[in-house]
Formats: sequence, structure tokens, C-alpha cells
Amino acid sequence: MTIDVVSTNPIEGQKPGTSGLRKKTRVFMEPNYLENFVQSIFNAIGGAEGKTFVVGGDGRYFNKQAIQTILKMAVANGVARTIVGRNGLLSTPAASHLIRLNNTDGGLILSASHNPGGVDEDFGLKFNTPNGGPAPESVTDAMFEQTKKLQSYSIMSAPDVALETIGRQALGAMQIDIVDPVLDYQALMQQLFDFDKIRALFASGFTMRFDAMHAVTGPYASAILEGELGAPDGTVVNSVPLEDFGGGHPDPNPVWAKSLMDLMMSDAAPDFGAASDGDGDRNMVVARGVYITPSDSLAVLAANAHLAPGYKSGLKGVARSMPTSAASDRVAEKLGIGSYETPTGWKFFGNLLDAGMATICGEESAGTGSDHVREKDGLWAILLWLNTIAERQLSAAEILHDHWSTYGRDYYSRHDYEAVPADAAAGLMKALQSKLADLPGKSFAGQTVKQADEFSYHDPVDGSVSENQGVRIVFENAARAVFRLSGTGTEGATLRLYLEQYAPRGTDHLKDTQIALQSVKDAAVEISGLEARLGRTEPDVMT
Ligand code: G1P
Ligand code: ZN
Repeated sequence: MTIDVVSTNPIEGQKPGTSGLRKKTRVFMEPNYLENFVQSIFNAIGGAEGKTFVVGGDGRYFNKQAIQTILKMAVANGVARTIVGRNGLLSTPAASHLIRLNNTDGGLILSASHNPGGVDEDFGLKFNTPNGGPAPESVTDAMFEQTKKLQSYSIMSAPDVALETIGRQALGAMQIDIVDPVLDYQALMQQLFDFDKIRALFASGFTMRFDAMHAVTGPYASAILEGELGAPDGTVVNSVPLEDFGGGHPDPNPVWAKSLMDLMMSDAAPDFGAASDGDGDRNMVVARGVYITPSDSLAVLAANAHLAPGYKSGLKGVARSMPTSAASDRVAEKLGIGSYETPTGWKFFGNLLDAGMATICGEESAGTGSDHVREKDGLWAILLWLNTIAERQLSAAEILHDHWSTYGRDYYSRHDYEAVPADAAAGLMKALQSKLADLPGKSFAGQTVKQADEFSYHDPVDGSVSENQGVRIVFENAARAVFRLSGTGTEGATLRLYLEQYAPRGTDHLKDTQIALQSVKDAAVEISGLEARLGRTEPDVMT
């Protein structure tokens, strides 16, 4: 029986971003909250009648209950077919792949990415379009308009769907296919990479630790690394997805993946270390004794991708977000291919990938991916590293050092000032913006400003313009500082200061990163008046 529930509208005025709607779990659990958002999605895309959607999430608290609600609403809205990961699990890249593989009308992905999970933590829901990528702003704006005028939603009253049983079942007139969340993704990875070579690498005694952080990539990494590629049992740790991720932040960086970092810096380090986030789209890679920054990882992967079968004909171009270091530009230049600088956020890569202008893209925030899906992909990046190691027969650290001696090194670090008063952060940015024109030629802490501007992006594919994407200050000696306010924080404002210092070929590449960046940091702090404005002398997090 389908019922139309006339609801008070608890989500009125709540604006989804391109990573969907992210809120406290208890907010999503309020009566009609999830329902109103799902109905807004269906209405915003011109209705759901006769359509096919992929549905799955990262397994956090409320994942399964939310999926039951979505399925009962889907049938009531006339959806013809849904493809659902068993037990409601699908990593974000695997969901993106299923959307594309099955030529569906899109997908609903339940995740708050790297944010903690649990009844008192975070939950999220986003819609991806038929190309497999996050809904563009035109679609999220349409959802927002719906949230403002929605009066009712449709739902079928029915018993719960058996999410644990693989195979086809029916809910009213809707067909539901419960699928193994890993199989199709694994087949895609097998096409892209030389699994025989990687298998031989593990057989030769190569050791690795993959920390799944009790999040969604556990089953993927266990099946692929230990199952298919023969890595020893125990290679994948924290492999069982938990609703609260074991109480941690499933965020793969040196701060939250500390136990992996500690191991990799110790005498007991395996040959290679890696981790992924809550929904499997971010990655961290660590060589024995050396942390590999995401910016360097992007550059190394771009330089070596042609060694993997899926990229043997070369890359069309490389794209990076503006605050990501220039390391990948140097690779693109050498390869004679296009390089693109986009605003922060994965959505800006979609057009370049769809248009065949870029093959590989990445962000300094631990996101790397290619045109195989339309999301960043944590395990993909790790497998491309393994493929490179297997082909070159060098350790990850040797590959990195070789890269630096070929291209020079871009020392890089991001400093986050978290939960600062929103008006103080906005004031800092405003003051900076107003003095940009006066900065060139002036010196601060021994660094002379060469150029200072605010980044605007002109999308070469659709001609759209995105303004106010961060302040860039470039110094004479190949250093750069970027200031940006985070768009994803939940408490006050987060100011991100991105620091970069290029050390050309033949210079010292083995300095401590923070020491190498000290003078550009001092200059950035002086120019922005950061200490006085924010009342902070040190950042909360340095990655
Ligand atoms: C952060 C990252 C950005 C990433 C986004 C979503 O956004 O910096 O690169 O695309 O999360 O994962 P921010 O908080 O900086 O706006
Ligand atoms: Zn994520």
C-alpha cells in the first residue's frame, strides 16, 4: 500500500551541497527528515517513475534503516529497479561504477565520508547523476527548491527488504537486485591493473599494511589484496565495517591514521602502508619511513600510470585542485599533456573527465582518481602504487626519491585552524582580499611577493565561472601560500593555510617538511595577521 504522508517539513531551507546533505545522525532520524530529503531528490530530477537507481552506503549507524526507507519511497514513487549493495554496503567509488556499468539514472549514496559515525555523530545522503558523479550545483539547487515547497512524500508500507540476501526480489512493482558490493568493482580493478604482476610481488615476500579504519573498504581490500592478490592474511587490519568505525575518525591522514604512521616509521615497518576513509574514496600511502603527501602521490601516479594496462596508451591530461601542489603540473609538462587547476571539490573534475581532457585527477586532501569512475577512489590509488612498485621493482621510497631527483621536490603542508569564530575567519579573508593588489614586490619574513590574487575558475568545457575560490600568494623563490575557508566544517569556521616550497633538481630534498616551509609560513602569517585575528599561534592540524 502506498501512502502519501503530508508532512511538516523539517528540512525546509536546508541546502545540500555536492557532497549531499550532511547532518548529525539524530537530525536525519527525526520524523520525516530523511523522507523529505529523498522526496526532494526524486522531485528535483523530474520524478522517479520507471527509473533505475543504485543504493548503498558506508555502513555507518542508520545506514540500513535509511536504505529501508529509501526503498519503500522508491517503489511508491514508481521506481522500476534498484541495485543495492548487500547489507546496504557500497563504497562511493563502487557505487559510481555500478551507476555507470548498469546505465542507471543515478544513485543514492549514504555517507558522511571521513566524519565519525554513530547515533551522536554524523550521517549524510547524496545523489549521483547517471555519469556516476556527484550531482552538479544545478541539481542540488533544484533539490533545495524542492525542500522549500514540499508538502508531502510517498512511501509504501511494507515489511523490510532482506538486504542480506544476494539476488533478485520484488517490492511491489519494483525489482530489487541485491548485489555483492565488491565483485563488479574488483572486475574493474582487474582490467586496469596487472594483477599477475602484483600477485608475483606479494609472492616474492613484499609486505604491506592496509588500514581499513573499520570503514567500508575492509571487504574490498580483503577480497582484492588478500583474496585475489595473495597478500598474507593480516595485511588488511580493522577490516570489519562498524557502525561507529570503532569510535575513530575514518580519515586517512597522519593524524587519524596514527597507528599506521607509527608502524611505518618504526623498525617493524612493512614495505608499504595505506589507508582509506569511511566511504572509500580517500587514500593515504606511506613508504617505509616516509609519508607520501597526496600532492606527491598524484604526481608519482601520473608519471607512472602508463605502466599499468588500463593507462598504457598514456594520459590525456592531469587535473588538480588549486591548493594541491604544483608537482603534478611538472609531470604533465614533461609528458606534453594538459594540466588543469580547478577549485577545491571533486565535482570540478567531472567535466574534464567526461570531455576526455583529463585522465587522472587529485586533491591535496587525500583524493586521487581517474576516468574509470566519477569519484575519487582510495583503493584504486593504492593499487596503482602497487602496480608501479611491481613494474619498477623499486620500493615506494625509492620511487618517491627518484621522482624528486627527476622533477625536484614540492615541499608541502596544509595547516588547519579549526573551529575559529566565523566572523574572525571572514574578517581575515576580507582584509587579505583588500590588500592583494599592494603585495607584489613587498617582502615578508625574507620572502618577496611575486603575485597575489583570488582564484577564479573558468570551466573550459561548459564555460561556467566559479569565483572566490581562495587567495593565492606566490613568492619570488618558488614558494606559495594559499588561504581558503573550509566548506565542510560543522563548528565555527576552519581556515586552511596551504604551504608550498619548490626545491629544484639537484637541491636538498631531504629536509624536514615543516622546516623547509618555515619561511613561507612566517610570511603568510605576517601578511594575514593570522595570530592576532584568530588568536592562535599554532594550527590544530598539520597534514
Ligand atoms: C574538504 C577538502 C576538499 C574535498 C572536500 C570533500 O573540503 O579540502 O579537497 O573535496 O573536503 O571531501 P573543505 O573542508 O576544504 O571545503
Ligand atoms: Zn570520503
